[in-house]
Amino acid sequence: MYSSALSLIYDALGSWCAKALDPLFDSAGILGGWWRQHGLQWETGMSETEPDLAAIVRDIAADMLARKDRGTVATYIPELANVDPQHFGLAIVDVEGNVHAGGDCAVPFSIQSISKVFTLTLALGRVGDRLWRHVGREPSGNRFNSIVQLEHELGVPRNPFINAGAIAVTDVILSGRQPRETLGEILRFLQFLADDPTIFIDQDVAASEKRTGFRNAALANYMKSFGVIENPVDYTLGVYFHHCAIAMSCEQLARAGLFLSFNGVNPLTGFSVISAERARRINALMLTCGHYDGSGEFAYRVGLPGKSGVGGGILAIAPGKASIAVWSPGLDEAGNSHLGRIALEELARHTGWSIFGP
Ligand code: DON
Repeated sequence: MYSSALSLIYDALGSWCAKALDPLFDSAGILGGWWRQHGLQWETGMSETEPDLAAIVRDIAADMLARKDRGTVATYIPELANVDPQHFGLAIVDVEGNVHAGGDCAVPFSIQSISKVFTLTLALGRVGDRLWRHVGREPSGNRFNSIVQLEHELGVPRNPFINAGAIAVTDVILSGRQPRETLGEILRFLQFLADDPTIFIDQDVAASEKRTGFRNAALANYMKSFGVIENPVDYTLGVYFHHCAIAMSCEQLARAGLFLSFNGVNPLTGFSVISAERARRINALMLTCGHYDGSGEFAYRVGLPGKSGVGGGILAIAPGKASIAVWSPGLDEAGNSHLGRIALEELARHTGWSIFGP
């Protein structure tokens, strides 16, 4: 606390002047002692105490389970319409593997678009920056399944998280492989990240989306007409529908996201998944594009990189602190979990974890 306070003084006075004050500010120093005795807090809101995560999670889960405003479950994938909107789960995993979890944190749910974070990671691993020939990096400001921008932008989707962009990313992973092999690779990647072989694909959800995925078929065919999709459209869509249908619990999902919170390394297994630079960039895309046309609101209210799915899940990354997964199936107008966002806003408020400051 005192060294941070000191850096503010460096800014204000110039380091030549503040250097002379160093001894006074160290924790044994005279002024340091005076401030502690008088209980003064710095205006930056910094506190010496770590947040009590167990209590915070318990209170948020109790509050969210009791709320009546739960949003509306997605119905355009018929299988998702059967999910009970009363569910609420939350899990936080920190650098030491401590898990703070509440509500239905162990119940598997359909991760849907959250899978796009992991396919993006795989595609970047496969082709590196050549990926950006197939997909852009800008927020779309449109719904997740919108087709309007594609014509203006010659079939290259705005970002890897809108449906068109994620289909293009899936196509990149598929190139040179069979659909079954590609899907196996995506599933095994998630099992590896979460260190949990029980993660599975919900075949009913995949079949339900395949039967009704006319918009995605339109997006994929449209991109194919511009040469952005390389493989047979049916193959690419088949892999896409199935990776969206991966089912995971909040605990499993939070574990799988850990590498993004800790510079590309899973601190629990010690595996280096990607470089720190790539983790930083994926987090930047999650912040700017992870909630579609609700991304600005999510950054404003929560202030963490996050990725939502129409199953009602959100993966949020608190860099250097923890990986967080929340699930509440009811969605807001933008297609993002209504209570999931509110729960994360509460969490960010109580922990001070927003990347923009406490
Ligand atoms: O392609 C779809 O429409 C779904 N499989 C995924 C969409 C989604 O999760 C959007 N997220 N909020």
